[in-house]
Amino acid sequence: MKAWLHNCAGEIPKEIGSAYDLACFELNSAFPDIQWHIRPDPEMGDAYRVYPENGRWTVSGGETGILYGAYSMIRKKDSGQPAPFTEESAPAYSLRMINCWDNADGSVERGYAGRSLFFENGRFAYDPERMRELGRLLASVGLNVLCINNVNVHDPAQQLLEDWLPEAAELAAVFRPFGIRLMFSVDYSQPMRHGIPTADPLDPDVRRWWKETAARVWKAIPDLAGFLVKADSEGRPGPFTYGRNHAEGANMLAEAVRPFGGVVVWRCFVYNCRQDWRDLETDRPKAAYEHYAYLDGQFSDNVILQIKHGPFDFQVREPLSPLLLGMKKTKLAMELQLAQEYTGHQIDLYTMAPMWKEIYEELPAGNIMSIAAVSNFGRDENYTGHPLAAVNLYTYGLFAWNPETDVKEAVSEWVRLTYSLPENDTEKLIRILLSSRRIYEKYTAPLGIGWMVTPHDHYGPNPSGYEYDLWGTYHKADRNAVGIDRTAQGTGYLMQYPESFRKKYEDAETCPDLLLLFYHRLPYSFRMKDGRTLIQRIYDDHFEGLQETEEMASVIRSIPFPGPDREVIDVRMDMQLKNAREWCDIINTFFHRLSGIDDEKGRKIYL
Ligand code: GCU
Repeated sequence: MKAWLHNCAGEIPKEIGSAYDLACFELNSAFPDIQWHIRPDPEMGDAYRVYPENGRWTVSGGETGILYGAYSMIRKKDSGQPAPFTEESAPAYSLRMINCWDNADGSVERGYAGRSLFFENGRFAYDPERMRELGRLLASVGLNVLCINNVNVHDPAQQLLEDWLPEAAELAAVFRPFGIRLMFSVDYSQPMRHGIPTADPLDPDVRRWWKETAARVWKAIPDLAGFLVKADSEGRPGPFTYGRNHAEGANMLAEAVRPFGGVVVWRCFVYNCRQDWRDLETDRPKAAYEHYAYLDGQFSDNVILQIKHGPFDFQVREPLSPLLLGMKKTKLAMELQLAQEYTGHQIDLYTMAPMWKEIYEELPAGNIMSIAAVSNFGRDENYTGHPLAAVNLYTYGLFAWNPETDVKEAVSEWVRLTYSLPENDTEKLIRILLSSRRIYEKYTAPLGIGWMVTPHDHYGPNPSGYEYDLWGTYHKADRNAVGIDRTAQGTGYLMQYPESFRKKYEDAETCPDLLLLFYHRLPYSFRMKDGRTLIQRIYDDHFEGLQETEEMASVIRSIPFPGPDREVIDVRMDMQLKNAREWCDIINTFFHRLSGIDDEKGRKIYL
């Protein structure tokens, strides 16, 4: 048994066919001395109650609820907390989704943990035992939807709705006892593979094709959660081609899947990815709001708009997307990215829970009804490439269940489940994990500016790599100033927010430091709140980030990790050190060469 469940009984027997059987198996194996009474109550859905009754412990809950109750007790016990105990819980969000960006050829877009667990060579290829193990891991933290293929649907992944349906149904059956429903990413132009000359959502033949297809798909997999769609985004087909808006586009699919209880999860990652850098008017972060906010109230009730947490694309720090605040009459899901695309490729340590906490502090509780995260797992033995990156998958589940989860408790629970280390090492590891995001932030692009990364690959520094490119991600650093003014006087991006947000960020004097360069264009001599100049703050952060990485490396080396993890962690820590040094030196040199201003502390900058 791998990852955080290594204390659980061996494999899940193949014969286990329902969440009820699984809950019984897990509880009886984990607590052999306790008498359990499992009382299904279909009304309760994902919710559960655990309580003592007549000398036994009872778990009541819906079909899946009893499973989540069982895993809650097991996680507590195996992480050294007293269990069982009385508990009552229900998830905040109904769909707690993982989006895999796996391609049919076995590659994984932005995957840093080996090849796909599901596909190889243009067909399904999976190990059923590993699937059950994955199902167990996901169910143990309450995740319930697994989209198995990339949102960029490359040929032949369309076959999921066609010839591969029988095999897809077999895979769905493997995950069913774990309470996990499959979802498929679909290609908006798929009817055109079948002789229909258009994919126009208002065309009767297109509508008929999708209805017939949905009927066929749900006949094979009656509990399929739905379709995930990336349309009119980064070259993917979509309704814009036919002069239709995204409500028209999404509602057409929603009508097709409605009879089967399916949903359409429609991504809002829509922007001009062919921007001319000479165009000084367009400001990419404004795009999603401009495309969707005016459509509020026009989407069918089985459409969920899936919005990335920030207005750009999973940078180390971004403000909350204004779209998540601006669509009160539409069902919304927030999209996070566990895959460390811009955050260290699962080489550098980067624990995400502190970032999620910040997001939730600004996101009113009722604004979203579901949550999704791009997967960070693959075929590597330890699932996540870096064994410590599993903390992100684990804590994602906990936050998806309850956004008020305590960050430290969640990280600590994962550490205690995963490793049996002496207490002082456990504490050291928890501290490192909790500080890792801030450290990474310090040695990479400064103060909310983002994007000073190697183009396309997105690991390592290249401060002007995206500066004259098509992606709308510019910092415009010159010899006097850096950043983009996104206030009312500038691009007006900030005007997409409610008043309280505008107030918080509009004045450079009071704007929180860590987003200063996201919102403002400022001279290097600008005085920060603590009296330092902007340029000095940039230098200081980078030197500190490197130094803290060095300190982290020596602590990591002193922790007695077991067997295979030890080696992987050490190798990656060395790579992180190299990366941090490269970032620190290149960013500092870049700004010194532009500004000509020396570091007050006289540290080494390469001139
Ligand atoms: C990023 C990422 C792409 C991905 C896209 C998306 O731009 O680099 O690989 O396809 O996000 O979210 O659709």
